[in-house]
Amino acid sequence: MDSSPPLLFFAVLAGMVLFGAAKPPHIIFIVADDLGWNDVGWHNDQMFTPNLDKMARAGVILNSSYVQPVCTPSRNCFMTGYYPFHTGLQHEVIHPSHPGYLPANFTTLPQKLKQLGYTTHIVGKWHLGFCDWKYTPTYRGFDSFMGYYNGAEDYFTHIRDNGYDFRFNTSVHHPPEGEYSANVISARAVEILDSVDPVRDQLYLYLPFQSVHAPLEVPERYENIYANISTKSRRQYCGMVSALDEAVGNITSALRDRGFMDNALIVFTTDNGGPTFTAANNLPLRGAKTTLWEGGTRGAAFVYSDNLLQNDGYTNNERWYGRGEPVAHRQFRGSFRTLGVPDPTEHHDIASDNPDVVSKLLGRLSFHKATMVPANFPPADPASDPKNFGGNWSPGWC
Ligand SMILES: *[C@@H]1O[C@H](CO)[C@@H](O)[C@H](O)[C@H]1NC(C)=O
Ligand SMILES: *[C@@H]1O[C@H](CO)[C@@H](O)[C@H](O)[C@H]1NC(C)=O
Ligand SMILES: *[C@@H]1O[C@H](CO)[C@@H](O)[C@H](O)[C@H]1NC(C)=O
Ligand SMILES: *[C@@H]1O[C@H](CO)[C@@H](O)[C@H](O)[C@H]1NC(C)=O
Ligand SMILES: *[C@@H]1O[C@H](CO)[C@@H](O)[C@H](O)[C@H]1NC(C)=O
Repeated sequence: MDSSPPLLFFAVLAGMVLFGAAKPPHIIFIVADDLGWNDVGWHNDQMFTPNLDKMARAGVILNSSYVQPVCTPSRNCFMTGYYPFHTGLQHEVIHPSHPGYLPANFTTLPQKLKQLGYTTHIVGKWHLGFCDWKYTPTYRGFDSFMGYYNGAEDYFTHIRDNGYDFRFNTSVHHPPEGEYSANVISARAVEILDSVDPVRDQLYLYLPFQSVHAPLEVPERYENIYANISTKSRRQYCGMVSALDEAVGNITSALRDRGFMDNALIVFTTDNGGPTFTAANNLPLRGAKTTLWEGGTRGAAFVYSDNLLQNDGYTNNERWYGRGEPVAHRQFRGSFRTLGVPDPTEHHDIASDNPDVVSKLLGRLSFHKATMVPANFPPADPASDPKNFGGNWSPGWC
C-alpha cells in the first residue's frame, strides 16, 4: 500500500499479532455513529456508560485515535485500510439516491479474514454503497448481514425518505414491530454468537450501530437516566448513548457466557466526532462532525481483551500512559505524557514558530496528493426511487 492505513486498521491487525502464538482471536469491532468525545463515561462522569467504561479502563484507551470527519469516509477506512482519497470516497457521504460506492476491487478486512478462516458477520449500518448488489455486504466479505444500507433512518420503523431500508442478507427483513434499533442489533449479535463455536471457529463480528446518529429517538427509560439535564435534545441524545452501552453490555455478557472472551479482541470507536448541532458534546475539543478540528476527527476509542490483563497490579492504561496516580485521576491530569495536542481547543496558531514542522507537513501533503484519485460523487439518480422496488431502498439501479 502506498499510504499509511488508519490506526484502527492496524489496531485490529496488531491485535492478531499480539495473540500470536495462540489461535487467532475473535474480533468484535464496534462502531458508534456520531458519538462525541465528551459523550462517554471515561471522558465525562455525567455520562452513564458503565459497560463501555469498564472495558475502556481495563483495556487501552486510544486517546489520540483519529477518524474521518464524516461517516462514509471513516467506514471506508475500517473496511479497507485505505484513506478515502485513494478510493474516491473523500467527498462527503453517500446519499440514498446517489450511486456512490466503495469500488469493488478494494479488498475488505472481512475478505482478508475469510482467507484466514474467519467466519464474518455484520450487524447494523453499511453506508458504503448499494446501487448494485456487488457493493453490498454479503458480496464484500460478510457471511451474513442484518441492517441497513443508508446513513440514517427511523430507529423503530427503518424508514428513510419514503423508503424502507432493512435487510437480512439480501432479503427485506422486518424486525419485531416497535423494537428499538440498539435492541435489534444486540439481539442479532447474540444470535450470531449462538451459531459460532468459540473453540472451533474464529469470528469477525462487525457491529456498526445506528446509535447515536440523528434522529433523536430513544425509549423513555434511557432518557429518564438524565432527568437532571434540562435540554430535551441532550437528554435524548445521552439516553441513546446509554442504550448503546446497554446493548454492548448484553453482547459482552453473551461473549463471556458462551466462552468467547478467553480469546477475544474488542475494538470500540466512533466513526467521527459528535454533531454538536444535534446534541453531542466534544468538549474540550473544538469543532464537530464535518469539521477538521479535533472535535470532528479525534474519536472516542479503546481496545479491550481479557488477554491483555496481567497480574502486576497496573491497568494497561497505566502501563501505556504512566503510573502512580489512582485511575480516576489519571485521565485529565497533565502530569504524565499527553499524546494529544497540548492545545485541545486549537486557538493558538503556532505555524510561524515552527517553520520546519510546517514544511515537513506540506511535503507530506504533496506526497499524498500525488496519489489522490478524483472523488466519485455522482449526482442523484431518480432510478433509485424506492417506488421502483416495492417501497424499499434496493440495489439494481447502477
Ligand atoms: C481499483 O481500480 C481503480 C480504478 O481502475 C484503481 O485506480 C485502483 O488502484 C484499484 N485499486 C486496487 C486496490 O486495485
Ligand atoms: C443469512 O446468511 C447466513 C449465512 O449464510 C445464514 O446463516 C442465515 O440463515 C441467512 N439468513 C437469512 C434470513 O437468509
Ligand atoms: C439487554 O438485555 C436485557 C435482558 O435480556 C433486555 O431486557 C434489554 O432490552 C437488552 N437491551 C438492549 C439494548 O439490547
Ligand atoms: C441529579 O440530581 C440529583 C438530585 O438533585 C443530585 O443528587 C445528583 O447529583 C444530580 N446528578 C447529576 C449528574 O447532576
Ligand atoms: C487525553 O486527551 C485529553 C484531551 O486532549 C487530555 O486532556 C488528556 O490528558 C489525555 N489523556 C492521556 C491519558 O493522555
